Amino acid sequence: MPQDPTATTDVAVIGGGIIGLAIAWRAAQRGLTVCVLERGEQPGTGASRVAAGMLAPVTEADAGELALLELGLRSARAWPAFAHELEQASGADPGLRRSGALVVARDRDEAEALERELGLRIELGLEVQRLLPSAARRLEPALAPTVRLALDVPGDHCADPRAVVHALAQAARRAGVTLRTGATVERVEQDAGRVTGVALAGGDVVRARRVVAAAGAWSGAIAGLPRIPLRPVKGQILRLRDPDHGPGRGLLERIVRFEGGYLVPRGDGRYVLGATMEERGFDTTVSAGGLYELLRDAGELVPGVHELVIEEMSAGLRPATPDNAPLLGPAAELEGLHWATGHHRNGILLAPVSADIVVDGLTGGGEGVGSAFAAARFSGVHA
Ligand code: GLY
Repeated sequence: MPQDPTATTDVAVIGGGIIGLAIAWRAAQRGLTVCVLERGEQPGTGASRVAAGMLAPVTEADAGELALLELGLRSARAWPAFAHELEQASGADPGLRRSGALVVARDRDEAEALERELGLRIELGLEVQRLLPSAARRLEPALAPTVRLALDVPGDHCADPRAVVHALAQAARRAGVTLRTGATVERVEQDAGRVTGVALAGGDVVRARRVVAAAGAWSGAIAGLPRIPLRPVKGQILRLRDPDHGPGRGLLERIVRFEGGYLVPRGDGRYVLGATMEERGFDTTVSAGGLYELLRDAGELVPGVHELVIEEMSAGLRPATPDNAPLLGPAAELEGLHWATGHHRNGILLAPVSADIVVDGLTGGGEGVGSAFAAARFSGVHA
């Protein structure tokens, strides 16, 4: 039944990407009334549409980001059950592929760097194995004979973000969520230090007891919200297709990562080649130079890439914080506001656990503002 437009909803979620939709679905499952406000004509038209979908806490691990690594590992463990439940709830396959990943080095410098990456991961107790080039090529025959060294990371997988968005939107709607597309937020309204709703372009106001800011890189620019140190980091990406794909004739089975990029096989002849890391503000243009570098580097390691057909070129904006970790949960400065942004390179991976943390906050439980991911850690730091 359509929601009464004059009623106050429990939760208004700004942003209908993977994070916003996962929160909406989980919140509705806990009995809250939820309205998602998505400015695109369909859900998931921001970073979710561009993302490759790697679920890769081990290959993304960084010695200075241990809390983020723990969160990533927790979310990676949650993904299979999340995907299963999502498929049951939506009737749509979210495209989870337990592919594993290889990280490859193409020269001596990269091989030395890879040895250091291996050492760090062994120290952290992560599942990773050093492979000689011959062993790597036995696993993935499409790798160039010039590969110097490889790491096998069997626990890093991938999902298809566009399929995840489709499934989440279905599941959310079935759970009673109102999903408003073409809804551009003008401002979050407040009274006496607490949110009261969201004003939309065109004059509508969605009255809400709580507001979740899940608008990716744009979350920091929403009028009426406290300032947060969030910046966009551009990633350019190519979607490719193997015209000769067939049973037993796939170019790659595993994700292949290399210095500056990655190649993610979907398992059906489609590949995603990404991604640049560029600090250019809110620019989503696709540049010849960015794509050239991706194709050059990937082609050196997997020459068969040059035979693939280009289906799409795009650029998205990762929402990045100073410590590369997300902002999750209640805001200290404005009652009723909950952050769900700052996922940087890990938005798809962190969706299940982010939804749980934020919905715990919405329902009054969980880790609250004291967690390592609370916005309060940046008090006094502005973009
Ligand atoms: N998760 C990889 C990227 O952001 O490019």
